[in-house]
Formats: sequence, structure tokens, C-alpha cells
Amino acid sequence: KKVIFSAIQPSGTITLGNYLGALKNWISLQDEYNCIYALADLHTITVRQEPAKFRHNTLEAYALLLACGVDPEKSPFFIQSQVCTHAQLAWVLNCYTQFGELQRMTQFKDKAAKHADNVNAGLFTYPSLMAADILLYQADLVPVGADQKQHLELARNIAERFNGIYSPTFTVPDGYIPKQGARIMSLQDPSRKMSKSDENANGYVAVLDKPEDILRKFKRAVTDSEACVRYAEGKDGVNNLMGIYATVTGLTYEQIEKDFEGKGYGDFKAAVGEAVVEHLRPIQERYADYIKNKDYLEKCYTEGAQKALAISSRTLNKAMKKVGFIPKA
Ligand code: TYM
Repeated sequence: KKVIFSAIQPSGTITLGNYLGALKNWISLQDEYNCIYALADLHTITVRQEPAKFRHNTLEAYALLLACGVDPEKSPFFIQSQVCTHAQLAWVLNCYTQFGELQRMTQFKDKAAKHADNVNAGLFTYPSLMAADILLYQADLVPVGADQKQHLELARNIAERFNGIYSPTFTVPDGYIPKQGARIMSLQDPSRKMSKSDENANGYVAVLDKPEDILRKFKRAVTDSEACVRYAEGKDGVNNLMGIYATVTGLTYEQIEKDFEGKGYGDFKAAVGEAVVEHLRPIQERYADYIKNKDYLEKCYTEGAQKALAISSRTLNKAMKKVGFIPKA
């Protein structure tokens, strides 16, 4: 069976973009593959966090992913900081990653511009930690949204380089990027991706947003002046809404165009909002139960960390031995 690995940062709100671009695939891949999932909380401290809020966000993200359908019986689901092999392999891989490669990462450039007062070394070496996450589990496939493509490409290069210097050590992973939903755009500025760090909360929909807020955000979504529901170049706002609608309903673009023939954007935006609300409703209900059950959450992430440590230690030991470290007696 192929191995699937992916992770998400517990940095506050989990958006509809995270869900449609990545999480939905995490769930659907679970039956067919050996999946391992994580909350990438080590990555989260590349931006300063308030400790109590950070703890809360991490627990919330854990409960929410269970509510989305991550099944810890099938797929070990752990918190990255609780599995020490990640930071260890990341250090080793840092020494096989070039400064120039990291400098070319567009996400680094964006984040460095945005957090100019805290361009720390962790922000810079973030992709080699991400490579460690993936390579530790010998992952074949990594379900992510389109914005992680460049990081994934770097992980592949690091793996190939290490394998080339020594001998085959790491599986070279492929991305698993959905055809639809890989890049959900902001509802307020469809030229930018939907992001939880958007200053304008109307730009993103959080998976845990109240139904009335979701409906309102879709009602206010930016479209264009043509007033015709069709998928076409230059209609970024409408294309984005069609993408979201198609992904949550399973309808094709042609069906959607037919259903809304002669209707205005008002009707369409209301329909998209309602479809999203209905899609998220059962997730929100399950979340409300999970978040109350702290003992169950603790049991799940503790077991997840134990399983993850067992698997990842094998890879770490193998890699360290190849480099020439003296194995622990
Ligand atoms: P993160 O936490 O920013 O996002 C989690 C997942 O959501 C996807 N995503 C989107 N997809 C579609 N449209 C959007 N607007 C959108 N915004 C986010 C992301 O592509 C991602 O799949 N570095 C990673 C976390 C990570 C990781 C890993 C991922 C750490 N280690 C190892 C894979 C494998 C990140 O910050 O994702």
C-alpha cells in the first residue's frame, strides 16, 4: 500500500480553502492507503504565538480534523512537536539544503515581507522541516493545495540529493493536488488565495463560521458586471464561486451554468452559501462533541505520537547512520 503523509498548521482558523484544497482528500484517501497526518505546530512558531492561544488553537485544530473525518484508528494523527524525530531530521536535512534554494521559496518571500520585524531563521528553513515531516514516513503521496507545490518540489530535491550522495534512503514523494479546489481564492479579492491571515474576515470562510456568517460572506463575495453564471477567463470571482460550489455539490460546471441560466448573481451566491453551510453542518456538530472530550483527544494524539515515533525513528536512524554518526548503543 502506498503511504500518504500530510500536515496542517494549527495557526488559528481553518478555512474552507484548507478544507477543499487538502483536508477533503486526507479523508477520502484513508480507506485505500496507509495515511499518517499531523498538526505542524513546530512550523507555527515561525510566527510569534501567544502561548495560551496557541495551545487552544492546537487542540481546536485536532478536534476539528477528527470532526472532518480523520480516523485515528486508520491513520495515525499526531502533533508534530510531540515526535522528536521531526526536529532531528530537519537539522540533518538543513545541511543538505542550499541557502539559495530556500531564498527562492515564494512563501518565504511573501512571509518575510509581511512579518518584516521577525524574519527568523525558522521561517527561512521552514521547508527543510517540512521535507523532514514527509521523508520520515517514506511518503509516496502528499495531499496538499497548490500553494505547497514549491515546498514539495524542494522536498523531492532534498531526497534525491541525499539518496544520490549515499544510497537510496528516502522515498521521493509526489504531490496529490486536487483538480478542483486546489486554489480557493479570497471572496473579497479573487486574485489572491483564501487565507486565514487575511485582514478582511469577509475574504475567507472558516470551517467553524456560524451559518449566518457564511451566508453573509458569500452574499458579499466579489463577482463582476456581466451578471452571467459561467466559467470563463477574466471572471475570477465567479470562477472561484463555481469551483467551491462544484466541489461541495459534485455538480459539473456545465450543470451549474444550466441551473443558473437567466438567474442573477444574487441567487447564485445564496445557493453557494447554502451548499457550503449544509456541507459544513455535520462537521460543526461533530466538532462540538469532540472539543468537549479533552480526555479522548489526549488519548488520540498520545497514541498517534507513539505510532509516529516508531515509524519515523527507523528512517531517522537509517539516515543518521549513512551520514556517519555513531549509532546509539
Ligand atoms: P497550511 O497549514 O498553510 O495549509 C494546510 C493545507 O491547506 C492548503 N491550502 C489551500 N488549498 C486550497 N486553497 C487555499 N486557499 C488554501 N490555503 C491553504 C495547503 O496547501 C495545505 O495543503 N507547510 C504546510 C503544512 C505542512 C505540511 C507538511 C504539508 C507542514 N509539514 C508536510 C504537507 C506535508 C502549511 O503551512 O499548510
